[in-house]
Amino acid sequence: MGTVQPQKEHQESTTNLTSQNWMERGQRVLIPTYARQPLVLVRGQGVRVWDVEGREYLDFIAGISVCNLGHVHPQVSAALNRQVQELVHVSNLYHIPNQIELAERLTDLSFAERAFFCNSGAEANEGAIKLCRRYAYERFGPERYQLICMHNSFHGRTLATLSATGQEKFWQGFAPLLPGFAFVPFNDLEAVAQAINPSTAAILVEPIQGEGGVQMPAPGYLEGLRQLCDRHELLLVFDEVQTGMGRTGKLFAYEHFGIAPDIMTLAKALANGLPIGCLLATDQVAQVFGPGSHASTFGGGPVVTAAAGTVIDIISQPTFLAEVREKGEYFKTRLQQLQARHDLIKQVRGLGLMLAMELDRDGGPIVLACRERGALINCTQGNILRFLPPLLVTRDEIDQFLTILAEALKAV
Ligand SMILES: Cc1ncc(COP(=O)(O)O)c(C=O)c1O
Repeated sequence: MGTVQPQKEHQESTTNLTSQNWMERGQRVLIPTYARQPLVLVRGQGVRVWDVEGREYLDFIAGISVCNLGHVHPQVSAALNRQVQELVHVSNLYHIPNQIELAERLTDLSFAERAFFCNSGAEANEGAIKLCRRYAYERFGPERYQLICMHNSFHGRTLATLSATGQEKFWQGFAPLLPGFAFVPFNDLEAVAQAINPSTAAILVEPIQGEGGVQMPAPGYLEGLRQLCDRHELLLVFDEVQTGMGRTGKLFAYEHFGIAPDIMTLAKALANGLPIGCLLATDQVAQVFGPGSHASTFGGGPVVTAAAGTVIDIISQPTFLAEVREKGEYFKTRLQQLQARHDLIKQVRGLGLMLAMELDRDGGPIVLACRERGALINCTQGNILRFLPPLLVTRDEIDQFLTILAEALKAV
């Protein structure tokens, strides 16, 4: 405890190191919070990534729905290069033109009138939870603070967002969690209506549950939540950290449903790989936050907002979004054709390029078989394969991927 350690010799030469070398070094020094795949990726271009040994992979997970414009997008890289020559950081003690322009774009393109920037999805949701509490406190008094959240949801790993996440496996060993969260089954409007009581301030929901296995909202469900919120003067919060930024074929998933939330959170793909989070709200809700009520040192800095401004200009183009919908339909139809040939596939579901295949068994061997054949996918909830390719994936690349997936399904 507290003794001075002799300087360690970490700085081996990094040339000629194999994947195995890197994995062993990582295992020695990193806190082992991830069950990482045995892969060391060092280069990316579009829908492809390469490992240390030069092996090529089709990336159908895109950093978990982050690199929606693929790896090393030329326009995003150019915007970053320009900005890092000018100014990297000043903090929110000052006004930041790129941040203001990004807030203007996001509010022009959504229901929202105001934006706050932070650095991750969890942080955006923390901000949303605080905003709900402050709004309810100002309007209705201190007895109103509870958020109704959904079973199987995922909102992040900070203590507040973990407390809002409806999956007990993530809570293990972190008690006591934050009070003020109630849980009901996803897609059960009656359960939400029953759960509303005088302490309820808001309803927090992912329009499509991502980590929970690409679980789709039942017809009328999100609209029903909107009605309940209106009837009981509650705030409706959509966590669009995963579903936002064109992933479902609309810029924001809520646009599919003809309703809007009062608060929305974004992160992941907003800056195509640089850390960013965003809290968006109507003017009426946002005005309960004043100077000092919330802050972030790095939030909305010049570099990350330069990238995000470029990302949103590209993704918000109607033709770009129409192509996402069209390619998503094609991909889904082809996955359904695979389902017809393989009994182990229980269901194919999703929207746009947020697709999943539920299996009757553990999906790990298929993830491995795909990787061995040069394609990266993810398995969530043990048996649900998740497909989240970059949105600029071509039909040809979808076909290449499907050939690999078909072989992997045959092999297991
Ligand atoms: C819907 C949703 N909300 C929040 C988060 C947390 O985001 P982050 O890992 O950037 O904190 C995630 C991450 O997977 C997510 O999918």
